[in-house]
Amino acid sequence: MFLFNETRASDAELQAAPAELLRSFYAAKASINPNLDPPSIPPTINSVLANTVAEQGKNMAIMAISEYQGMLQNFLVGLIGAKRVLEIGSFTGSSAIFFANALKRNGVAGGPDANGFKPVIGLDISEEFAAIARRNLANAGVEDYADIIVGDARANLASLEGQTFDVVFLDADKPSYKYYYDTVIEKGIVAKNGLIIADNTAFDCATVYIGHPSPLASDTKPLDVAFAKDIDNDTVGRALHDFNEYIRNDPRTEVLMLPLYTGITLIRFLDA
Ligand SMILES: C[S@@+](CC[C@H](N)C(=O)[O-])C[C@H]1O[C@@H](n2cnc3c(N)ncnc32)[C@H](O)[C@@H]1O
Repeated sequence: MFLFNETRASDAELQAAPAELLRSFYAAKASINPNLDPPSIPPTINSVLANTVAEQGKNMAIMAISEYQGMLQNFLVGLIGAKRVLEIGSFTGSSAIFFANALKRNGVAGGPDANGFKPVIGLDISEEFAAIARRNLANAGVEDYADIIVGDARANLASLEGQTFDVVFLDADKPSYKYYYDTVIEKGIVAKNGLIIADNTAFDCATVYIGHPSPLASDTKPLDVAFAKDIDNDTVGRALHDFNEYIRNDPRTEVLMLPLYTGITLIRFLDA
């Protein structure tokens, strides 16, 4: 059986694949233009994902964004011509590598700016994950494009006041999403007309919370994907539900949730 992340499969593997997997395979494959230079998929990303599975176990590795989500985020970064990205929650570096790759494709130069900041800033509470992310960024040849700052993102966000990012990716502790969102808007950390991407906004615990239990049957749909990591479902589900309600009623932003994976919400900070 081929993996979702693979973009090549034999005829026999395709014939044996369930419909849902096949659809994902075609979606990813049909999105790849081999003439792009550099391409939208960083060449080392599959080994980052494979090493993360081997070193952290499957339940943890599921935290990394998939190849397809990375391509989507790459596309958006290209579309708005972003120059700087802040990500909250870097883990072993998958999303940071995609963002670094996307900024490179936008013609952004690597290396620190006058204030010592590289184009991608990642925040992560874990020294261990940050070290792995830095190693993976170096292996991908984009270490000049991203710095990982270790510590609680709530505290480290304050140190970024005065810095402006075109894209902010929320992918750390879900109960803090509202805090991160308000802080990047109120402190001007996200640019006007900039994009906030919030991951996992329709975790199965959130959809259960609003009364739609996920069946996890053979006809599983994207929004029914279970998250195997051990999390406090009540707390996370309630926090995500409250966050979703808060942002869709917030006049400062325009919000669109994509029903992909466990929910990806695109948020545009309005220039009003
Ligand atoms: C879902 S993973 C991020 C996945 C990553 N974006 C990727 O594509 O591989 C969440 C990360 O948030 C980090 N994290 C959790 N709570 C945090 C906090 N309060 N401050 C900073 N990082 C935090 C965890 O250490 C973990 O690496």
